[in-house]
Amino acid sequence: MNKEINIGLFGFGVVGSGLYNVLNLSEASHIKISKIVVKNPKKKRSIPSENFFFDKQTILLDLKINTVVELINDPEEAYQIVKTALKYGKHVVSANKKMIAEHLNELIALANNNNVSFLYEAAVAGSIPIIRNLEEYYNNDTLSSILGIVNGTTNFILTQANEGISYKKAMQIAQEKGFAETDPTSDVDGFDSKYKLSILIKHAFGIHVNSNSIFNNGIRNIKPRDIQYANEKGYRIKLFARAEKIDNQIIGFVAPQFVKQDNFCYQVNNEFNAITVEAAFSDKQLFIGKGAGSFPTASAVLSDISALVYDYKYEYRKSAVEGKVNFTSNFYVRVYLGSENRIDLSRIDLIQEDESFFSDEYSFKIGWIVFSELEKFDFNEWKEISLIILPNEVELAEIQYFTLQNTTELILE
Ligand SMILES: NC(=O)c1ccc[n+]([C@@H]2O[C@H](COP(=O)([O-])OP(=O)(O)OC[C@H]3O[C@@H](n4cnc5c(N)ncnc54)[C@H](OP(=O)(O)O)[C@@H]3O)[C@@H](O)[C@H]2O)c1
Repeated sequence: MNKEINIGLFGFGVVGSGLYNVLNLSEASHIKISKIVVKNPKKKRSIPSENFFFDKQTILLDLKINTVVELINDPEEAYQIVKTALKYGKHVVSANKKMIAEHLNELIALANNNNVSFLYEAAVAGSIPIIRNLEEYYNNDTLSSILGIVNGTTNFILTQANEGISYKKAMQIAQEKGFAETDPTSDVDGFDSKYKLSILIKHAFGIHVNSNSIFNNGIRNIKPRDIQYANEKGYRIKLFARAEKIDNQIIGFVAPQFVKQDNFCYQVNNEFNAITVEAAFSDKQLFIGKGAGSFPTASAVLSDISALVYDYKYEYRKSAVEGKVNFTSNFYVRVYLGSENRIDLSRIDLIQEDESFFSDEYSFKIGWIVFSELEKFDFNEWKEISLIILPNEVELAEIQYFTLQNTTELILE
């Protein structure tokens, strides 16, 4: 425990300044921020200006700095900083989910080759210690499913919408409360959730699936009529990042789902995040907490930094399956498709239609479809259509599957 952690901090925004304050409040005398690099020299700061630098080399070339904490909001620049820091033999802690999701295997290899740690607990679900748990506690292959609300902005908006507040008004409240950014596209269209899902899949099931290969449909097109349908059935709508392992196949996607009262996530409201993990013998377990915000996110960053004191590294034990398991879209899923225009609905063929309703104002149909067929549409941009997954889809215990014409079929009772 004598190791000194000498930090070069990139970024002094919501999380960076949070980390600075959290460190000041903690009694970790062996952890010290030596230099802070930010972008804008003209910005007013909450601490004296002599703490700040504007050239990344100030940190990267400083031999006394053994740890880079990367907390900037520019994924491409973050990638360059993290890559260089690892090459220069510095430990790295990052919260940048997009950058990590897109370059994970390369960064792991760099960290291994240079015998340093690369930790990123804060990148997924903020304060919830999910990555370390997937690494250490669920460190075998009994894990079968992960189902998470990993974006607080959308959960906040959906909570309001479930109570009858319009999407527009809910978004306005979210922005006023600081839960939504001025450009909320990454959150509301499910991109942010899929970056996190990509990282979760690596730690849960061992393979890296680049986020470009993961389907994401967000909440932008959910209409009051869909909420009304949910209310009539006793459902709530949640945006789920979901992955499952079935034999040697992994499925994963981000989409809104109807949730029944008996689902662990039904009561997870407002800006809270939650992740249900299901494994063969422990059954279902729920992690819940704040997924964003200055102090909650900084606490996860601090936890990673503290772990460096005892040379903690992710071991990626499950990665031995890399090459032996496939990420697949070849499964059936049961969906609700709603639109104010029934012609739109006719553009999507269901293999089996279970329920439908057509009127001049609003129509919907419910039934089974091969997931790869859904992936052909960009539902985020198709404003007329709402796509919502049916609730029993998340009841993994009920899933049976078999192969039919080269397609893995998920059957729910
Ligand atoms: N906010 C959250 O609750 C939260 C939760 C989980 C994960 N994260 C992740 O944490 C990271 C930081 O988020 P944030 O909310 O703290 O962002 P933020 O408040 O927008 O702050 C971004 C910081 O990055 C600095 N920066 C931008 N480009 C830079 C560059 N090229 N070189 C050096 N500094 C640069 C900015 O400098 P200036 O101050 O000069 O503008 C600013 O200090 C992101 O990856 C985000 O996805 C955030």
